[in-house]
This record gives sequence, C-alpha cells and structure tokens, in this order.
Amino acid sequence: MIATRVGRRQASRVGGCCLGLVAAVALGSAFAQEPGNLVEKGQKVFVEQGCYGCHTIGKVGTQGMATDLSHIGAKRDLVFLKSWLADPSAQRPTAHMPKIQMSRADADAVATYLSSLR
Ligand code: HEC
Repeated sequence: MIATRVGRRQASRVGGCCLGLVAAVALGSAFAQEPGNLVEKGQKVFVEQGCYGCHTIGKVGTQGMATDLSHIGAKRDLVFLKSWLADPSAQRPTAHMPKIQMSRADADAVATYLSSLR
C-alpha cells in the first residue's frame, strides 16, 4: 500500500520534470534557431574534417594527441576560435596544429559549435 503511494508521487514528479524539459527545448529552438543550426552543422564539420583524429570531446576521439575540447567554449571566445581555425600558427607561432583547409562557412560553424561546449 505504502509502496504504491510513493510510486505515484514519484511518477508525477517525473512527469513535471519532463514537461519542463520539453518547454525549455521548444523555447530554445524558437529563440535560437540560427545558432542552433550552426552548432549542428559545426558538429558535422568537426567529424568530417578529422578533428577527432587529434582531439577528444568527452570520451570520443583520439586520446593523448592534443587538447580535450569538451569545455573549450568556457576557455576561449568565438573570436579566438575563428582566428585559431583560420591559421593556428598565426595565433601561436609554436602551434603544432596544422592549418586545416575549409570554407569560411564551415570554419564559422565549427567555431560556433566549439564555443557552445562549456
Ligand atoms: C594533426 C592533429 C590535429 C588536428 C587534425 C586538429 N588539431 Fe586542433 N590542436 C592540435 C594541437 C597539437 C593543439 C594544441 C596547440 C598546438 O600546439 O597547436 C590543438 C589546439 C586546438 C585548439 C585550441 C585549444 C586551446 O586551448 O587553445 C582548438 C580550438 C582546436 N585545436 C580545434 C581543432 C578543430 C576544430 C580541428 C578540426 C578542424 C582540429 N583542431 C584539428 C592538433 C590538431
């Protein structure tokens, strides 16, 4: 009997939580459509350009080669990220990261994606 009552109370709490989440996601996509799309595109470019060949984001990627980029957005701003991708050695003469050829639009998308990783 007691177990059933607790079960119901928990169920309603979970329900409330999910509704809140759905509302937040809906609001987020309504107000931030453009950056949201760029982040998605940037995530794709990151894979296509082989960034995972040297970097990790979370548990994905190559360990021990270069910096983990899981929280790069908290460390570097969008302006730095864009200029870094355009030419790492122009930002830091001792940089080991190669200059990676990609379109300006792709570079902007990757920079926006990275800057969302906080
Ligand atoms: C050949 C290996 C290699 C590849 C491929 C590579 N990187 Fe890097 N990256 C590095 C290394 C090494 C560093 C550390 C700084 C340095 O010495 O260049 C670095 C640094 C960075 C930084 C700066 C981190 C900081 O804390 O300042 C960013 C951002 C970054 N890489 C993003 C990318 C993205 C996006 C791609 C794909 C387009 C990419 N990297 C592909 C090797 C690589």
